[in-house]
Order: sequence, then structure tokens, then C-alpha cells
Amino acid sequence: MMEKTVLINCSPKQKLSVSGFIMKCEGLMIRGRKEYFQLRTPADRRPILNALKTAGKVIFVAPLYVDSVPSHMLPFMKEMEAFCKENGLRLKVYAIANNGFIEGKQNEPLMRVMENFCVRSGLEWCGGIGIGGGVMLNVERIMIAVMFGLMLLNMGLRAVQGENVLEPVRSFAISLGEVLLLACGIIAYAVRLALHVNKGTNAGKWYTRIMVPSFVFILFADIFFIIFSVFQGGIFRGWFSRLQPDAKYGIIAVKKNNA
Ligand SMILES: Cc1cc2nc3c(=O)[nH]c(=O)nc-3n(C[C@H](O)[C@H](O)[C@H](O)COP(=O)(O)O)c2cc1C
Repeated sequence: MMEKTVLINCSPKQKLSVSGFIMKCEGLMIRGRKEYFQLRTPADRRPILNALKTAGKVIFVAPLYVDSVPSHMLPFMKEMEAFCKENGLRLKVYAIANNGFIEGKQNEPLMRVMENFCVRSGLEWCGGIGIGGGVMLNVERIMIAVMFGLMLLNMGLRAVQGENVLEPVRSFAISLGEVLLLACGIIAYAVRLALHVNKGTNAGKWYTRIMVPSFVFILFADIFFIIFSVFQGGIFRGWFSRLQPDAKYGIIAVKKNNA
């Protein structure tokens, strides 16, 4: 019987996380029993550890935060280290990292953190992939959904008018091919990784990116962030403001303790 694989989406985002999307796509290619989790809050940790007891492989799918793993992963990794040692687990560990900047190689420090974590926990580090410009995968999946919707609408309208309903399918297929071409490196490495996971072999570390020239990516990223900041932050807001105590981030608590 094939060993169970546990896939963990380590993004703290509740919606539209790139890591969650990659995890689901990778999971489609993994054979045998699979269990999917999201690691977001402390309450998520115990169910994942319990699932690891009966697993043979684990795939961490994480965003790159400040050149490393997101901070909420660290307490989990500490707990997992103790848990694996206590229970004598010898899991095979794979990682898929994605980052905002275009170069996939920027995920290297995260990969090293994962490798060191494995050494320390007595687990088998089996490598993984680092994906640059990961956020574009969100753009791509939204584009595919919109194009698919438009294709159905177009087919409906053509059916009513008695025209060839297959024409929109053809244009959809061409557009889909173009969108997938931008992700061809990611798709190829994801398939390669899945083959290694299925065989339980070491995949090595591979880096890829969305296939858009850097100057185009940077131009669109700048436009996106200017629009985003105008709507989220306002243009002049915060230029001369005092530090606002914010209970959410514990600033009030820090002040009280220091007083
Ligand atoms: C707090 C924070 C720190 C980040 N740090 C980096 C970074 O150091 N380098 C980078 O290329 N992208 C960085 N990013 C961008 C994320 O890695 C990128 O948006 C990623 O696609 C998010 O994946 P997710 O949707 O699965 O959370 C950061 C994002 C946030 C919110």
C-alpha cells in the first residue's frame, strides 16, 4: 500500500492564497492517500501532527516572507520537531515555496531553513521547488475562470442565433494555451516533483518563475501596487500621524509593560 502524503498550505491568507492553489494542483498528481491542511492558527497544529503519525511523506507549500518562512510556521516546526522525535517518525519532507519577486532563486533561504529543520528533527529532506512571481498564478487562475465564463456566455448567445457554437471553444483553447505557456516552467517542475514524491525519491532543489520578462513584470507590479495603495492606504494618509496604539498587534500591551 502507498504511504499517505500530507500536504500543508502554510499561507496565513484565508482566501486566494497562491500556496493553497499550488497545493491543490500538486495534490492532483500525487498517488495514494492524501490529506490536505492549512496551517494558519495555533488550533491548526494538533490535527496536522496527528495526521503525520500515519504519513510517510509531507509537502510544505509556503509563501516566502521576508526571505524566509512565515513566522507563524516557526512554533509549528518546533512542535513538529519534538513530536517527530517522540514518536520516532522518519517522514520524507518536500517543500514548494513561492514568492512575490520574479526570481524563484530568492526562495533559497526558505529551502535551507526547511533542510536544517529536517536535519534537526531526524527527518529526510527530499528537496522541492521555488517559484518566482507566484502572485501571477492568482492572476492566471482568475483569467481562466473569466475566460471560461465568457466562453459559455458566447456559446449560449451563438446557440440562440443559430451560429457555430464551437468557435468560442476554439478561442478559449488558444487563450488557455497562452496562459499556461506563461506557467510552463512551474508546471514542468511541479510534475517532476510529483513523480519524485510518488517514488519517494529526493527531488533536489529547483527554481523557476512565471515566464514573463522581468521589465514587464516589474511594470505591471508597480501599476498594481500604486492602485492598491491608493485604495487601501489613501494618498496622503499617515504622512505626519502619531503612532496609533493598536491592540491587534500588541503595541498597547508593550507600552503598559514598559510603563
Ligand atoms: C509579510 C510579507 C512578506 C513578504 N516577503 C517577501 C520577500 O521577502 N520576498 C518576496 O519575493 N516576496 C515576499 N512576499 C510576497 C509573497 O511571498 C507572495 O505574495 C506570495 O505569492 C504569497 O503567497 P500566498 O498567497 O500563498 O500567501 C511577502 C509578502 C508578505 C505579506
